[in-house]
Amino acid sequence: MDASLSILIVEDDLRMRQLLRDTLAAEGLLSEACEDSREALRILDAQKVDIVITDLMMPQVGGMEILERARGNNPDCAVILITGYGTIESAVEAIRKGAYDYVQKPFEPDALVLIVRRAQEHVRLLHENRALRRQVEEMHSEELIGTSRQMVDLKNFLAKIAPFDTTVLIQGETGTGKELVARLIHQWSARRDRTFLPINCGALPESLLESELFGHVRGAFTGADRDKKGLFETVDKGTLFLDEINSISPAFQVKLLRVLQEGAYLKVGGRDPQKVDVRIIAAGNVPLQKEVEAGRFRSDLFYRLNVVPVEIAPLRERREDIALLVHHFLAKYGAKYAKSVQTVGARALERLRGYSWPGNVRELENVIERAVIMAENSELKEVHLPQTAAPDEDKMSDQDGLVSLEEMEKRLILKTLEHTGGNRGRTADILGISPVSLWRKIKKYEA
Ligand SMILES: Nc1ncnc2c1ncn2[C@@H]1O[C@H](COP(=O)(O)OP(=O)(O)OP(=O)(O)O)[C@@H](O)[C@H]1O
Ligand SMILES: [Mg+2]
Repeated sequence: MDASLSILIVEDDLRMRQLLRDTLAAEGLLSEACEDSREALRILDAQKVDIVITDLMMPQVGGMEILERARGNNPDCAVILITGYGTIESAVEAIRKGAYDYVQKPFEPDALVLIVRRAQEHVRLLHENRALRRQVEEMHSEELIGTSRQMVDLKNFLAKIAPFDTTVLIQGETGTGKELVARLIHQWSARRDRTFLPINCGALPESLLESELFGHVRGAFTGADRDKKGLFETVDKGTLFLDEINSISPAFQVKLLRVLQEGAYLKVGGRDPQKVDVRIIAAGNVPLQKEVEAGRFRSDLFYRLNVVPVEIAPLRERREDIALLVHHFLAKYGAKYAKSVQTVGARALERLRGYSWPGNVRELENVIERAVIMAENSELKEVHLPQTAAPDEDKMSDQDGLVSLEEMEKRLILKTLEHTGGNRGRTADILGISPVSLWRKIKKYEA
């Protein structure tokens, strides 16, 4: 990849020009060298140059002008200036104007090579970031960002099921995008011009939830001094998103089941069945099947809700989406705070990719919002990230002894699975246990 980055040397002094070329060539780095700086301007106009190494003081056109032209034609170009002893101030000025670095004559060949290698890394990073930004822009119409297999499958699946007026059950850990997915299903359905209403079932006590959803008639209970419309009526022909469905009481589960089975309900205190034309999308962040097995959730209601099951994978299982999401949120919060943070440093990205994200996309979004506020210029650096967003390995060592043996075992199994690319046979070998006991442990920790 490095070999594809073009390097231009601009130096009027023959001996110096040859030294520069030979030093790079010895490292396998090909470069074009030119003696006349006016010729250099022509080359910069005619072709894309990634790295320019230029003398500062030259007859005709000086290094500053080369710098301006190079970066004007290609903003990602890294310009390295060669300065004499007397021109350090100009070099500093050049850095301010966007030069990548400078080398003072006389220099050690190794020092030059090091700077060129760093410049290559830098340009490569800019290219990578630019490509990601472009991808995010292209995806902008698609609000669900991600190119992992899980995300692509999810998008295809949603597009397929959205137009059909069935109940949907969305499951996924906290912050994985359940509400966003519910909204998309509504947008891609024939109900798109009607109301989409999210309601958090866990936030309301049962009695309130019932009168909120179904409404009540006058005199139904003390304080009910007139009829009240319920949300089923308000949302008529729209979509109701019942979040934290796992938290509803057994009694309310029965009532909801009746709505789904009969397409009708009674207002609190009322006697005439009311027809419902509302699409129900439910979500929970604990596996509902487990709640059923534990006897906390009615199985008949579960099957009614689960006509179309949608699972959203946790972010740590689709790490290839992280860089794209980072750029998506950089654009979002850059606009909000009027700051243009366009590049993510290599170490920052490494850390973002390595962290396990227990709070999933929402946690990542919060981290990027904060980083945008912290950033001093257009680059997001590791120092802008909170301590917590560190790779799991770090946490393991600095929590010394605060982690239970069981937790340690779980992490070790996960790490080894990651290392073997999910190959259970090899994982069991490495851990020195039988495949059956590995299987048992995986089952246990999935619970
Ligand atoms: N694939 C994605 N692309 C873009 N933004 C996303 C994606 N997934 C989640 N988000 C964003 O992350 C945030 C959290 O998503 P959302 O509220 O839908 O999660 P949730 O699963 O409902 O969380 P909770 O379980 O805590 O209620 C939102 O701002 C949402 O827009
Ligand atoms: Mg939610």
